[in-house]
Amino acid sequence: MNAAIRAVVRSAIHSGLEVNAIFQGYKGILNSDFSSLNLRSVANIIQRGGTVIKTGRCPEFHLPEERKKAANNLRAQGIQALVCIGGDGSFTGARALWKEQKIPYVGIPGTIDNDIYGTDLTIGFDTAVNTALEAIDRIRDTATSHDRLFIVEVMGHNSGFIAVDVSIAGGAEAVFIPEIPLDIETVISKIQMGLKAGKASSILVAAEAKKSGWAYDLAESIRKKSGFEAKVCILGHIQRGGSPTAVDRILGSRLGVHAINLLNQGLSDIMVGVQGGELTHQDMSSCLEQKKALPPQILNLVNDLSH
Ligand code: F6P
Repeated sequence: MNAAIRAVVRSAIHSGLEVNAIFQGYKGILNSDFSSLNLRSVANIIQRGGTVIKTGRCPEFHLPEERKKAANNLRAQGIQALVCIGGDGSFTGARALWKEQKIPYVGIPGTIDNDIYGTDLTIGFDTAVNTALEAIDRIRDTATSHDRLFIVEVMGHNSGFIAVDVSIAGGAEAVFIPEIPLDIETVISKIQMGLKAGKASSILVAAEAKKSGWAYDLAESIRKKSGFEAKVCILGHIQRGGSPTAVDRILGSRLGVHAINLLNQGLSDIMVGVQGGELTHQDMSSCLEQKKALPPQILNLVNDLSH
């Protein structure tokens, strides 16, 4: 996200605008936690994980009277438009502020889950996948040396994008994702077939889905049904930190500049994205109303290549 912040600040200033940081998202608007930024304010941040302007959940923002207060705080500071970096929740708040208070905004998709319709990639996804992959490569050393079965749980509350990409790149035997009903029996028979064919270790990847830590339940079900003992590794929040990959830095930079260009053209209530490598934008309503689907051919790859 820092690459996007840097790009927004620098391209906005180059186009003659003034820029304020809003700290901790909507909470920062309600507390008038603003700070004027210059070109140097965003120096030395592109390589840093997280976000230098912080973030946070803000349940009060669900209330129209709080949003009215927020709009008044923005106007008092002279802020005429917002660039909102985040996912569904952040965009829903920005939309409400636009509809009720006519504060224009452009959304930049930022979530490691990559589950936002209207863009092929969201900021943070590539870094999260690479971080999880590095962990899987290390786990495989133990799995192979000790002939063990491992279940590695990755993030992905409602979506299996991280899990599927990590499975393909890490050579996993099977992947469990929220989009597809669980089929433990098929996975067990695959492990059994692998054993017969001389495969002594296996790695299964599971998206966390509804509950972080459910990989332990999965291991228990596999044990009860087959007798296989699986070691569990929950990768958790390490996937949300660390220095971003080049792909993420470039994505954040491109989307940040694109957002400012579109705001300068007078557009609002849109989300920027990349599709087929090209910069795009779409109405925010269509991005929020539709669910991004995993490409079926990608899903099949895990299965096809793990025999
Ligand atoms: O929405 C992104 C995400 O990384 C999910 O995959 C994960 O479930 C969630 O955030 C964790 O959020 P928190 O840090 O608030 O527990």
